[in-house]
Amino acid sequence: MTETRSSAPTRRDFVRNSSAAIAGFAAMPALGGAGVHHGVNDELRIGLIGCGGRGSGAANDALAADPSTRLVAMGDVFPDRLAEAHRALSRSEFASRITVDEDHRFTGFDAYKKVIESCDVVLLAATPHFRPLHLRAAIEAGKHVFCEKPIATDPTGVRSVMETCEMARAKKLNLVSGLCYRYDEPKQELMARLHDGAVGEPVALECTYNTGALWFRGDDPDWSPMERQLRNWLYYTWLSGDHIAEQSIHSLDKILWAMKDEPPAKVTASGGRIRRIEPQFGDVYDHFNTVFEWANGVKLFHSCRQIEGADRDVSDFVYGTKGVAAIQSHYITGPNEWRWRGRADSMYRREHQSLFAAIRAGRVIDNGDYMCKATLMAIMGRMSAYTGKTLTWEQALNSQLDLRPAAYAWGDAPPVEIARPGLTPFV
Ligand SMILES: NC(=O)c1ccc[n+]([C@@H]2O[C@H](COP(=O)([O-])OP(=O)(O)OC[C@H]3O[C@@H](n4cnc5c(N)ncnc54)[C@H](O)[C@@H]3O)[C@@H](O)[C@H]2O)c1
Repeated sequence: MTETRSSAPTRRDFVRNSSAAIAGFAAMPALGGAGVHHGVNDELRIGLIGCGGRGSGAANDALAADPSTRLVAMGDVFPDRLAEAHRALSRSEFASRITVDEDHRFTGFDAYKKVIESCDVVLLAATPHFRPLHLRAAIEAGKHVFCEKPIATDPTGVRSVMETCEMARAKKLNLVSGLCYRYDEPKQELMARLHDGAVGEPVALECTYNTGALWFRGDDPDWSPMERQLRNWLYYTWLSGDHIAEQSIHSLDKILWAMKDEPPAKVTASGGRIRRIEPQFGDVYDHFNTVFEWANGVKLFHSCRQIEGADRDVSDFVYGTKGVAAIQSHYITGPNEWRWRGRADSMYRREHQSLFAAIRAGRVIDNGDYMCKATLMAIMGRMSAYTGKTLTWEQALNSQLDLRPAAYAWGDAPPVEIARPGLTPFV
């Protein structure tokens, strides 16, 4: 493992860094050009790490975004997952640009290293826990990266990614985040208006990510504990970060964006397992309620749940002194009333169009700052719910929680311990 620990950063470091961050579609011209420059007509070789639903989608989006791209390498811990994704991609409209021969289909825990060696642009779409390790290896090797969310499942991982982002900046490598709403045109227009004062000063914030059940990939008596957990990674906090980080991060990120990427000062959260209680669902909660508070006293009321049969709602609002902005529904009320009436292209496609256009133009997109902050915000909410403690941003940022197992190997897996507020300690 090559993850390293960094010295304790503060909220001010984060706020300072955010002023240099790139929000969404806009790419900043690199000083003196990107470290790894590719001409307009050069073929760019793509490598995919994590061949599941999103990885396959990201590969498709990358191939669609730029006609001079080719998928040349794929990696997954499981051979069957890789084979399934390869079969599906080979039947897609981009089949002629999928030339992943047997020698470039890598499996096992070290597959990522060989994928990275084989390509110019890496798509990181494995289970969240591995992101700090995979991202570090890709940037060390000088590759441009598309990086799915969340970028870590514990603060140790977030600090590792913060360091890696610094390395990417120094090397002028593109780092595009899978926090896809930042690339959605209606939301970009709404945010521009919001930041321009359309609803006045924010007074309160609200966001909700309530959904039903997600997949369960079964059990097999022949699977080791590690295989069982990895195949059903959603339900193990060390692998997924819990659903507040794995799924509701999108809602938290939209609010962070609305707040001009200033992170909250503290959080008080609650949560638990009330419906999804069987052992097959590991140690994650099925609902969270969190109240984040910014330094100026503005509060965010956030809730998320994954409970089948309960009502679904994904929405987020900024309540301001002059009106309300409905981020997910793309409208603003009050004297600066506005509603998106256009047709929006796929935000997923736009992420990759931005990435490849920047690589070819010698520009650099740096989404590192907000992807770290949004992830830490989600982890901070989870840690507050798990422990029952109000936590500050600094406490979360400097937390020593490190969920890495003793080894990445088939066999034993980390013990399954469901957090109990008031008893589970904050570390
Ligand atoms: N931006 C979005 O809208 C969006 C949507 C869905 C998923 N995602 C994110 O994409 C990631 C993947 O999600 P998914 O739905 O495709 O899950 P998935 O389970 O379908 O795919 C993950 C794949 O990664 C593989 N994997 C696990 N550990 C690995 C390792 N160490 N090395 C290589 N491969 C490994 C798994 O075997 C699996 O095939 C997650 O981080 C998820 O949060 C983002």
